[in-house]
Amino acid sequence: MNIIDPSSVFPLANYDKLCFLKNYINNPNIEVGDYTYYDDFETVSNFEKNVKYHFDFIGDKLIIGKFCMIASGATFIMNGGNHLTEATSAYPFAIFGSAWQHAMDGKSYPTKGNTIIGNDVWIGHDATIMPGVAIGDGAIIATKAVVTKDVAPYTIVGGNPAKPIKKRFSEDIISKLLELKWWDWEIEKITKNVDKLTSHPETLF
Ligand SMILES: CC(C)(COP(=O)(O)OP(=O)(O)OC[C@H]1O[C@@H](n2cnc3c(N)ncnc32)[C@H](O)[C@@H]1OP(=O)(O)O)[C@@H](O)C(=O)NCCC(=O)NCCS
Repeated sequence: MNIIDPSSVFPLANYDKLCFLKNYINNPNIEVGDYTYYDDFETVSNFEKNVKYHFDFIGDKLIIGKFCMIASGATFIMNGGNHLTEATSAYPFAIFGSAWQHAMDGKSYPTKGNTIIGNDVWIGHDATIMPGVAIGDGAIIATKAVVTKDVAPYTIVGGNPAKPIKKRFSEDIISKLLELKWWDWEIEKITKNVDKLTSHPETLF
């Protein structure tokens, strides 16, 4: 069986604007599953530039599952972008040192944890994912959505702040798909089933 190699950086012949992301990124705090691709109008190096405020000293992770489709301009805001929201001022006095160096002693900037993207998630053009958000398997993020809250599996969300637009399937089918976890099958089994995977899920059960 001639199956595309998940370790290819650029899986499309003579095209370097789409990469299997896992093989391209350098940051150890970004984890990506097999076959997840990123497609950029200019250069795939824009992906890491669009993971913003992602600082080693905070250590938060961006974890992306398998078979995700990430469009040009998808942006991930990480926890290093957080200022104080419950103090009188959000101004980061302490970073300027000098007589302000102790302003944050015994305090910390708010953090919302890792950003977790499930499997088979489609992130539309110019969508923004805020810190600590978890996006369920099979979800779809509409163009220019700003995702501030967790997204349930197989749910389409859009807008700013992103709200559910619709579920992709009935609850019954969604729970069967979440049990099936086709993305964890051996690649030969996935390959044998690509026709079904690109048809209505009822063909799988
Ligand atoms: C979210 C999306 C998948 C919905 O497609 P669809 O299932 O065909 O849905 P529809 O076009 O029928 O729209 C359904 C509703 O969502 C709304 N909607 C669609 N796109 C939206 C968006 N980007 N932001 C907010 N709302 C959106 C529609 O206005 C409609 O609202 P209504 O029910 O009040 O009339 C699609 O609009 C989208 O954003 N695709 C991403 C495209 C992209 O960025 N591709 C990148 C290259 S891979």
